[in-house]
Amino acid sequence: MQVSASLLAADLASLGQEVRRAERAGVRSFHFDVMDGHYVPNIALSLEHLAKLRPHTALPFHVHLELANPDHVLEDFQPFEADSISVCLDTLPDPRRTFSLIRSRRAQVGLSLDPGDSTQNASRWFPELDLLIVLGVFPGFGGQAMHPETPERLAHLWQLRDDMDLHFTLAVDGGVTMDNAPALVRAGADMLIIGTALFHAPHMVTFMKRITAAARL
Ligand code: DX5
Ligand code: ZN
Repeated sequence: MQVSASLLAADLASLGQEVRRAERAGVRSFHFDVMDGHYVPNIALSLEHLAKLRPHTALPFHVHLELANPDHVLEDFQPFEADSISVCLDTLPDPRRTFSLIRSRRAQVGLSLDPGDSTQNASRWFPELDLLIVLGVFPGFGGQAMHPETPERLAHLWQLRDDMDLHFTLAVDGGVTMDNAPALVRAGADMLIIGTALFHAPHMVTFMKRITAAARL
């Protein structure tokens, strides 16, 4: 199990320092939400921020595009300093085309499912994926409470992945806390994406030690 730090909840006035602080505390990658104020009712991090942060760490950046027209961004923005790029299923008129645009950016392909998306409909795209993000909340804001059925949904997706003999990373994003982490790991999460609980913890190093220990149970 690895923790990916969701930078939306970091101190945005000191992003470089926040990246280094989280790396020292033991996170294994960074999650980077891009929001357009249209698909979701919030505007968040820009790809300029990502380019500026790249020199601060060698850890991977997982970009999460929560916007109405990801193809447009994938076509027009250069350079794209991402190790993986995840898109929301209901923003894709032609998922195959979007996935090939992501690969043309030399990034791994990710898909995110919000609590309302049918896992059965989504599963036809699973063979194309490197990363599947199961959202525990409807996208738009950090700090929301996780929908209680998320661990069951994860367990179902874990089983579907196994039945299909696939090996993409299964991640959970939105509302992850110290309290729900053990259930999420037991349900099969390979990656816990954590924003508020990590960056607002009174002591980040202690939080990371405790959550890593809790997730081993
Ligand atoms: C929600 C974002 C999440 C969010 C998670 O739209 O995709 O990545 O930052 O943050 P927390 O952990 O605060 O729910
Ligand atoms: Zn996200």
